[in-house]
Amino acid sequence: MHAPVAEKPVILTGDRTTGPLHLGHYVGSLKNRVAMQDTHRQFLLLADMQALTDNAHDPDKVRRNVIEVALDYLAVGIDPAKTSICVQSALPALAELTMLYLNFVSVARLERNPTIKDEIRARGFGRDIPAGFMCYPVAQAADITAFKASVVPVGEDQAPLIEQTNEIVRRVNGQIGRDVLVEAQAVIPKMGRLPGIDGKAKMSKSLGNALSLSASADEIGRAVHMMYTDPNHLRASDPGTVEGNVVFTYLDAFDEDGDAVADLKAHYRRGGLGDMAVKRRLDGLLQTLLAPIRERRAECARYPEYVLDVVREGTAKARAVTDATLAEVRRGLGLFRLAS
Ligand code: TRP
Repeated sequence: MHAPVAEKPVILTGDRTTGPLHLGHYVGSLKNRVAMQDTHRQFLLLADMQALTDNAHDPDKVRRNVIEVALDYLAVGIDPAKTSICVQSALPALAELTMLYLNFVSVARLERNPTIKDEIRARGFGRDIPAGFMCYPVAQAADITAFKASVVPVGEDQAPLIEQTNEIVRRVNGQIGRDVLVEAQAVIPKMGRLPGIDGKAKMSKSLGNALSLSASADEIGRAVHMMYTDPNHLRASDPGTVEGNVVFTYLDAFDEDGDAVADLKAHYRRGGLGDMAVKRRLDGLLQTLLAPIRERRAECARYPEYVLDVVREGTAKARAVTDATLAEVRRGLGLFRLAS
């Protein structure tokens, strides 16, 4: 008998457990995940195995942050009744699928992946690229396909990984001779990537330009105060530039009142509007956005047993789903079977 067809489309996405999540994650995908959990069957992966691909020297950090990221999920409004939160390293089917898929990907294709190229450069691996790192897109394909996810909400930097996933899906299905695996579609926010507070293209904890979701009111204030604006806008009366001005980029991302933002931009360009005034508006918006997230996080952190239960239950559900897919792939590929 076939397993019953899930009536809702499946979402799988995840985060490396290397540190607490930040505002870039929120804009980039957490917001989409919260919005889609009613209409989809959602799994969120605490990607500790993938985190190890460039943190093998610091497994303690990777382990500690499993629960930290789970807390961030709960804090932003992920509801464990609708979304299963699961631990990657507790799902052995993912590792086994990775081994199988590696045979359907060429080394040249791995080297061509633009995301990987950027990340290798950013990490300064030189010639010492861990093989696990080089191959993590294949492991990520295993993550996505093991859940038969058709929807993957991610930041735009992850789009090449979804493309590579779908190539693997087609090859494996081609080999098996029927569509056991499902192609996935990336859901990327319209706004694109949130820059760091220093104006660099990417917000990242390691670059020191991130605002974490658990930031205190003071930390938010300080981050906004330090935010990169227009370096030539020295006096309020000077005309200023809005493009590349992080404060305005953030207003575009967080201010619901588009007309008011348009007026502010016009005023800033004309001259007569100081950085402080715009920053005050942004500070207010971010305080309003982050205060309930911070409070809910603190509340959940007071009940570690509850958080563990959520992760345990989510992982158990994920285990059933991923084991079933692995069994289908093994059978489809015709691996040797000891048991009849
Ligand atoms: N690569 C993602 C990141 O850098 C994390 C991740 C792991 C993921 N497995 C995934 C994302 C599967 C989407 C789907 O945060």
